[in-house]
Amino acid sequence: MIRHFLRDDDLTPAEQSGVLDLAARMKADRFAYQPLAGPRAVAVLFDKQSLRTRFSFDVGIAELGGHPLVVDTQVTHFGRGETLGDAGRVLSRYVAAIVLRTHGDDRIAEVAAHAGVPVVNALTDAYHPCQLLADLLTVRERFGATAGRTLAYVGDAANNMAHSYLLAGATAGMHVRVAGPAGFQPDPEIVARAEKIAGGTGGSVRALTDPVEAVGGADVVATDTWTSMGQESDGLDRLTPFRPYQVNTALLGHARPTAIVLHCLPAHRGEEITDEVLDGPRSAVFDQAENRLHAQKALLTFLLEASTP
Ligand code: CP
Ligand code: NVA
Repeated sequence: MIRHFLRDDDLTPAEQSGVLDLAARMKADRFAYQPLAGPRAVAVLFDKQSLRTRFSFDVGIAELGGHPLVVDTQVTHFGRGETLGDAGRVLSRYVAAIVLRTHGDDRIAEVAAHAGVPVVNALTDAYHPCQLLADLLTVRERFGATAGRTLAYVGDAANNMAHSYLLAGATAGMHVRVAGPAGFQPDPEIVARAEKIAGGTGGSVRALTDPVEAVGGADVVATDTWTSMGQESDGLDRLTPFRPYQVNTALLGHARPTAIVLHCLPAHRGEEITDEVLDGPRSAVFDQAENRLHAQKALLTFLLEASTP
């Protein structure tokens, strides 16, 4: 059986916790683990732009003893008629795993359906599950554990980060509140799935419109861009309805005094978050960015060990 990581809930609560434990150990002893030594190659493919994901996978795969093959898909046949299924089948003959950042989730699902090696979602329109592993690792580092903590995500509650907070946060036993303006609410099917997961972990999920209600008493306040990749020309006003959701000192004042702030980056400073908050003492944003590296190394190790060709 091949284990893929296409959505946050592809890991059970116990598996997610195990990956985070391994990530912490890998962070503490960064060059001690070499599960890809051989060397085995990993394909890392991008249909969309990236800084953090690109570099953290490239460096991480090398640190695992493997050979990273980081490629923009425009230079392959991905974009000009070769089916994604055929590409997945061919790449599986060369590499130990395929990491893909793409648009629709149907695209990564097609690769995974035909691949003979683990496929990892490095961001799609609906989910950003690798980011959430880094975020949860950061929450663990700051609070010792995730279970029982309240996480408020404010901004575009219909985007990939909102959906991943719902699913991964529920899996981690957190109380997740997402708040966005009307028209920018999460997919009800994903909310229902997160609710079901939370029922088994002791967490909870709520989809709200009031940012103050969401942030009130929260341990973690998270946000993301109001305009995700591919939405630049969608004709929607992505500024005016979002202004009350800006993470600034006033909104943060409703959270717990010990609350931390997360942002997956890149940030649009002055839009969804102020400089004062992003650069301030509550910000865990740069630890969060670093943790992409450690979390993804642990994830790849887990998927490779759990998969049998
Ligand atoms: N947070 C994140 O995924 O950043 P990049 O788009 O730079 O990879
Ligand atoms: N929601 C953002 C996340 C970027 C890391 C996007 O999809 O562009």
